[in-house]
Amino acid sequence: MKVLKKRSAGHESFAESRGDTGDKMKKTATASERVASSSSVKDPMSQADGYKSVHAAWPSSSDSFADRKAFKDKYVMGKFISKALYGNIFSCVAKETSHNFACKVISNMRVHKRRDRNLCDDPTAEFQLLKLLADRPHRNLLSLVDHFADKRHNFFVLPLARGGDLLTSVQCHPAGLDIKLTREIFEQLALALQHLHTMGWQHGDVSLENILVISPGDFSSIKICDFGLASRMGSPGRSVGKLTYMAPEVLTATKKPKGEGKDTTWPSFLISAGQDVFSLGVCMFVTLCGFPPFESARDSDPNYRDLQSNLQAYRVKLTSWGVSPIKMKSPLLKLLMDMMSKDTEKRPNLNQILTCLKGL
Ligand SMILES: Nc1ncnc2c1ncn2[C@@H]1O[C@H](COP(=O)(O)OP(=O)(O)O)[C@@H](O)[C@H]1O
Ligand SMILES: [Mg+2]
Repeated sequence: MKVLKKRSAGHESFAESRGDTGDKMKKTATASERVASSSSVKDPMSQADGYKSVHAAWPSSSDSFADRKAFKDKYVMGKFISKALYGNIFSCVAKETSHNFACKVISNMRVHKRRDRNLCDDPTAEFQLLKLLADRPHRNLLSLVDHFADKRHNFFVLPLARGGDLLTSVQCHPAGLDIKLTREIFEQLALALQHLHTMGWQHGDVSLENILVISPGDFSSIKICDFGLASRMGSPGRSVGKLTYMAPEVLTATKKPKGEGKDTTWPSFLISAGQDVFSLGVCMFVTLCGFPPFESARDSDPNYRDLQSNLQAYRVKLTSWGVSPIKMKSPLLKLLMDMMSKDTEKRPNLNQILTCLKGL
């Protein structure tokens, strides 16, 4: 297996050796893995009416938005926090209140080049959803505090997560978090996704990097961020995301039967809640155990194969990888195995997940 690295520097050491084969398990995906899995594949969203209207909504200085000077009048830009696909994340302070925020600075040029590079993260969708969430906020979803645009950049002012992302927290616990903390975190995440799905949107990129911890070491306030791969429920799906977290139907979406013409089966799935549930299951597994359940949800991956069809063998592997007896016996393990089921019908819905978590 090849080793995945976090896009931002300094997390390479997190990839660790796991399993009886000595394979390297991977924690995260690089930016390049968030592109469509085949560069020859057309992006169906570029054809869709929805896409055009969202894209047209991407603001620049010609719109009636305040400009960079207005941002500077109101905020002082602070330290660099992280690289983003289309720009960078900084901290910033509101001059009037001295409150701290995060600012996602997006380069308009990079956005407009997205089609050339076949990148499928869509900051225009992110902008649209952030605006919707400003009207229908949820405590566990990041929403827009302020927005500015000039010719070159968009500035999204967002609540600041001083605790960074959940991946960073899990990295500090090589054996994973305990069941109580895992439950606390995932109840919030299930509620957040339920809210998003009720609004008719799928997140599409649920991963530990996109889960924010508001205060360091305190898991009572968790927020999902990064709506760059968000899509309307029921719209045609694309094979995009981070490999480890992608549901099997997303991973195989670009496969076409032999002898058939190009793009015959594209798209082969519709956006639904089940794909977020699958990714949430992977997140929960990593949080609980400290390592990913498999490299990717493909039949060619021996760990995914065992998880689907030889649970006994998979359980033996988990024990040999050091998962504690308490976790092995927990109903949580059964829940997340169901969440990562290849069969979409077998995956529990968010209500069922919440009921199971409450019963722990
Ligand atoms: N509001 C925030 N507070 C603190 N850190 C953040 C915030 N938003 C994002 N980050 C950090 O920046 C990283 C990249 O941001 P994200 O919005 O996910 O961009 P991208 O679309 O490039 O993945 C996240 O994984 C997280 O570590
Ligand atoms: Mg992200």
